[in-house]
Amino acid sequence: MTAVDVVIMAAGKGTRMKSRRPKVLHRLAGRALVDHVLACAARLGARRTILVTGHGAQEVEDAVRPVAPAAVFVRQEPQLGTGHAVQQALPQLPDDGIALILNGDVPLIQPETLQPLVDACGGERLALLGVELPDPTGYGRIVREGDGVRAIVEHKDADEGQRAIREIYTGFMAVPNRLLKRWLARLTNDNAQGEYYLTDVVKHAVADGVAVVAIDCDDRVQVEGVNSPLQLAELERAFQLRQARALMEQGVRLADPARLDVRGTLDCGADVEIDVGCVFEGRVVLGEGARIGANCVIANAAIGAGAVIHPFCYIDGEKGEVQVGEGALVGPFARLRPGAKLGPEVHIGNFVEVKNSTLARGAKANHLAYLGDAVVGERVNYGAGSITANYDGANKHRTVIEDDVHIGSNCVLVAPVTIGKGGTVGAGSTISKDTAPGVLSVARGKQASIAGWQRPKKAPK
Ligand code: UD1
Ligand code: CA
Repeated sequence: MTAVDVVIMAAGKGTRMKSRRPKVLHRLAGRALVDHVLACAARLGARRTILVTGHGAQEVEDAVRPVAPAAVFVRQEPQLGTGHAVQQALPQLPDDGIALILNGDVPLIQPETLQPLVDACGGERLALLGVELPDPTGYGRIVREGDGVRAIVEHKDADEGQRAIREIYTGFMAVPNRLLKRWLARLTNDNAQGEYYLTDVVKHAVADGVAVVAIDCDDRVQVEGVNSPLQLAELERAFQLRQARALMEQGVRLADPARLDVRGTLDCGADVEIDVGCVFEGRVVLGEGARIGANCVIANAAIGAGAVIHPFCYIDGEKGEVQVGEGALVGPFARLRPGAKLGPEVHIGNFVEVKNSTLARGAKANHLAYLGDAVVGERVNYGAGSITANYDGANKHRTVIEDDVHIGSNCVLVAPVTIGKGGTVGAGSTISKDTAPGVLSVARGKQASIAGWQRPKKAPK
């Protein structure tokens, strides 16, 4: 089998995005457009991946390096056309192998579509990916003659008859490296745009008697490029709908497939239900029978079987993973931050924030509370409005709340501090010293009730 070297063109300006950011770094499903293309190249098992950068080259290279450390960058300055772009990659292409030309701004192309193109090239032919469009305006037309392809004619260079052709070139081709080198050396820019057209390799192939084949892609979304914010949004919706369909085919019940956004991977067990308006980011796992209420944002988290996330929760494990145990109840309006680990049957209610804390089975914090850097035992009840004062302005400290503790409302636990097993803390207490197991601790001003006290009155006018 002939090796495949991928060349990704990503030097263009993307004027219509009207953005300072290079076009290929705009995001689709949470990832830069070019990342999608690089992932496709990786799945194809490419021997080399060469990225042609130009506009915003440094920014693009810096963004790509961490996601594709093996990618080779070549610069195209100035940008004199697609043929000129690929010319810059030639020194990086060995003579053996097949060059597969991809576009950094066409993000949804799949290996299943490209592999037949590579096979059609077979190390000896020029293979083009085409598509039939109802409105081919602006694209290069594929001009056929008999079984073969004669030329690609750019819209601006096409005559009326050619403009009537609805089969267009998608911008993807597979070509033997050695022939590509030969043909690119012959490119000229005597055309309507004064550019070096990659598409002119077709006429050189024909002149050399090399077979040119065009394969039509029946899935337009895969070959659609991003040129404007509207096209980016349309492609995002198309992509999200595909992901939603795939989840539903696995049995996930989505209240509305048009109102789901997965920007990463979402793995679901059986009988998962997801209400409208949810966003999933990074890696999220939903256990069997988990239910996600409307308008939740869940990132980097594992939600246990049977757990219920009520509406309007924000859960983000960032570089780690938030864990929500089996049968836990979270929200509405709860926030779970990095390091939050909720055991089975834990309840986290409205306006409760949990960060870097472990809650054991059956612990509850139902209202208006903060748990940071805490270890919370089984069946603990953590009262409304209570907080762990975990930060002294310089360092973070731990709070330990042992099994079966009851923390009253509006308490401040000044860390480092331990509340002994089975203990009770009276409402409104500020606890700064460890408490023994089983005791009631109260640390608040004593109540004074003054009989006959008169409220101040306003002076008469
Ligand atoms: C190109 C094809 C056209 C095809 C269309 C599909 C040529 C001459 N024409 O059109 O037949 O129908 O794609 O979308 O190839 N780029 C560079 N350097 C440059 C110019 C472009 O890297 O100097 C990159 C762009 O960033 C982009 C890609 O090449 O990723 C395609 O460029 P674009 O200007 O969109 O191609 P068109 O000329 O519209
Ligand atoms: Ca284009």
